[in-house]
Amino acid sequence: MYFGACYYPEHWPEERWAYDLDLMQAASFNVIRLAEFAWIKMEREEGVFTFEWLDRIIGMAAERGIRVMLGTPTAAPPKWLMDKHPDIYQKDIYGRSRGFGTRRHYCVNNRTYHRYTEAIVTQMAARYGNNPHVMGWQIDNEFGIIDTARCYCETCRADFIDWLKERYGSLDAVNEAWGTIFSSQTYTAWEQLHLPVYGVHQMHNPGLVLDFRRFSSDANRKYQKQQIDIIRKLCPGQPITTNEMGKFNQIDYYDLSADLDVCSLDLYPNMKSDPLGRPSYAGAALDLTRGFKRLNFWITEHQSGIPGAPVLHPTPKPGELRRWTYQSVAHGADAIVYFRWRTATFALEEYWHGILQHHGCPSRKYEETKQVGAELARLAPLLAGTAPRAKVAILRCFDSEWVFEIQPHVQEYTYITHLERYYRYFFDRNIPVDLVSPETDLSGYDLVIAPNQIMTQAHAADAMYAYVRGGGKLVLDFRAGAKEWNNRMAEAVLPGVFAELLGIAIDDYGVIPDYEPQGLAFAHGVAASGAIGEASYQALTWYDVIELKGAEPLLTYTADYYAGSAAATRHAYGDGFAYYIGTEPDDAALALLLAAIGRDAGVRPLLGGVPEGVEVAARWRGDERVLFVINHTTQSRVVELDEPYLDRLAERTLHGRVELPGNGVLVLTKA
Ligand code: GAL
Repeated sequence: MYFGACYYPEHWPEERWAYDLDLMQAASFNVIRLAEFAWIKMEREEGVFTFEWLDRIIGMAAERGIRVMLGTPTAAPPKWLMDKHPDIYQKDIYGRSRGFGTRRHYCVNNRTYHRYTEAIVTQMAARYGNNPHVMGWQIDNEFGIIDTARCYCETCRADFIDWLKERYGSLDAVNEAWGTIFSSQTYTAWEQLHLPVYGVHQMHNPGLVLDFRRFSSDANRKYQKQQIDIIRKLCPGQPITTNEMGKFNQIDYYDLSADLDVCSLDLYPNMKSDPLGRPSYAGAALDLTRGFKRLNFWITEHQSGIPGAPVLHPTPKPGELRRWTYQSVAHGADAIVYFRWRTATFALEEYWHGILQHHGCPSRKYEETKQVGAELARLAPLLAGTAPRAKVAILRCFDSEWVFEIQPHVQEYTYITHLERYYRYFFDRNIPVDLVSPETDLSGYDLVIAPNQIMTQAHAADAMYAYVRGGGKLVLDFRAGAKEWNNRMAEAVLPGVFAELLGIAIDDYGVIPDYEPQGLAFAHGVAASGAIGEASYQALTWYDVIELKGAEPLLTYTADYYAGSAAATRHAYGDGFAYYIGTEPDDAALALLLAAIGRDAGVRPLLGGVPEGVEVAARWRGDERVLFVINHTTQSRVVELDEPYLDRLAERTLHGRVELPGNGVLVLTKA
């Protein structure tokens, strides 16, 4: 277990370093993250490299038992470099250069930038590749953040054309896939192809827009790979990561992660405005990150103070930092690196608070960090080699997510908010969930939910059929199967490729406006008694008028011209069931529906008898289970333990009713 913070020695006088490191040592730090924006300190002049300062800080940290995660500094190319090669600047959709002043101002496809990247990364890797005090590498910093995943320069256009050539083989195939006959958009020579830049028209061809997203995602991955290849060669045994951002969707994180040794997350729960939603918001970010490689992961930036630039988000109150940290560990984090050690006294992030306030003296958050550090150091042997496990999977499909971002169907609709409604149902009931790609082997799951699976590659659809045939329980919902992989509409009757699996047909559908929710009722025997057949639930957002072709209804509409037709169904297929939800049921209806589906699938919570606001999560090693009970409220809560447990923090045995104070945490193993 790694524990530490992001440290920017270049922000402070060197005389201060020893003081900082002493405090870190006293807080049980064993890692600091360094250098990810320090290019100017390492190469102030082209080709003149200065690493002595970095050697000194690494050495001083090592003397205190602290290792370093080194960041390659390519998110912040210095001014001298940009002035010399202004073609490196990214271009926005208006064709404007993004200019200097923040970060990420470079184009990932720029060949000149590749040369500079190679030089600085090679210098660093050669110097530190055999340094035992370097525990790993972070490539660049938050690829794609601040709207930088896509660049609209001429190099990108040329590379996009090459990408299309490779993918489609011929221009005719591109024209056909995108349907460019519409409005005489047909391309008659490769050179005519353009990027979806700003235009006065409504929007670009959806096939072009989606392919440009895919291309840009691939381009970020390729740029990252250039750095990975250098570090892999020169730094054997030093794992490589990059800091990802959970729900961020401009890059396909399954692809980006495939080349890494370990995934990382930057996590700021208090940026979510709704305090009640924060625990599941953080939970989803954590579980998404674990899903990128289906492995435990690191937190490269863990909130430790007020996030703020330029407005301030809520202050973490006493006990919150500890509680969030345990939640991260419970969901599979093997490294906790707080952002940042001391709050900067200058520049863009002077309001983005760290463990120490601007004054730099140890105070409230430092004391809490110290407590967590000591506790985690004690728990480390217990947690080593343990990982979360889930029997429920929710599939996140980036291509489908992009399609909804390009064409949301409904005002303000987002794929990820929809996905999170499912996630939150399980989170609130302490049922562990894996958030994984549609490419994942589904066979180990009791229940799989594929939200808004608007496009699915043939092999993934085949795998879903096979999963259900073999006894799996699969939930699909509205717009499943509506598009082909190239972003054309499917010509088959909906739900297209899933029709046979789901035993339904859909001809009619539409948007349900906010001001006119429709009624829903459960079919007999589906929901618990009292709820049966009553039209007391609402259908929101979307309706599919479902015709039954072998499936049975679970929910029916009670209003409008489609009253009486099915809104959700279940179809026995092979040894399993395939479910379809043709609308966005309100919270109460969704909960009853998922409870019914969960009963079919035999899905169970980790612990019963847990009050609202208390989360239970677990990490496993073989049959051994480490249970985390986390009170996300500020009031004390009583939890019913099902058997005797050892409380690994307080070193006592617990059984029966246990009172957990506000923000309290229990780490339990079987007594
Ligand atoms: C992250 C970034 C950090 C820092 C932090 C606070 O996006 O990786 O370097 O900028 O946000 O703004």
